[in-house]
Amino acid sequence: MVDAISQNLTLDFYNTQAMQYVAETVDLDVSTIRNFFLNLIPRGGHILDLGCGSGRDSRFFLNHGYSVTAVDASSALAKLASEFIGKAVENRSFQELDYSETFDGIWACASLLHCPKSEMDSVMHKITQALKPNGIVYMSFKYGEGERVDERGRFFNDYTDADMTQLIAEHADLEVVEVFTESKPLRSGFQTWLNVFAKKQIK
Ligand SMILES: C[S@@+](CC[C@H](N)C(=O)[O-])C[C@H]1O[C@@H](n2cnc3c(N)ncnc32)[C@H](O)[C@@H]1O
Repeated sequence: MVDAISQNLTLDFYNTQAMQYVAETVDLDVSTIRNFFLNLIPRGGHILDLGCGSGRDSRFFLNHGYSVTAVDASSALAKLASEFIGKAVENRSFQELDYSETFDGIWACASLLHCPKSEMDSVMHKITQALKPNGIVYMSFKYGEGERVDERGRFFNDYTDADMTQLIAEHADLEVVEVFTESKPLRSGFQTWLNVFAKKQIK
């Protein structure tokens, strides 16, 4: 119940502040981590941009010859992103994913951090299902422990590298490629992020 309320408040933020949020994030430089991801998947492969926000990375992937499916649970962001990338954006949540062996890569940049920890296991299962064998998922979280609501009313799960490695270990089809922290400037100061790359193993 609390989870549902927190998620609604999170989406309320993205829906009501969509234009401002796009302005804040559309030009963020994520090139280093994005190139790391692209080097792990086939050139021109199919990417799911999960929680695409402004569409910044979908647009980059499309402009570089990749096939892209973009998804976001905020209807306002999905609409703005769709205009930005010139392609429909699916307005649904990561809890509603139902793809099967469709993607070479799943790019979940700062999006799964809004998923309640109680739902992470199920969402990770859907992500694994959606990946082709050898497919790669990238996810980023704020580094820390527990769950919290920030000053903008958004829900966050925070993870340490140990907790994330443990979560992935619980999914037999996934193996960790790389988990590392990174400190980056964001609005009011520096923040530590947890970057996670995992691969769907061939059975
Ligand atoms: C911090 S923003 C990151 C946006 C974008 N990936 C980026 O890196 O700029 C989080 C995004 O996740 C989306 N989101 C939040 N909850 C979601 C959910 N349950 N399913 C799918 N997307 C969700 C938000 O609407 C928002 O676009």
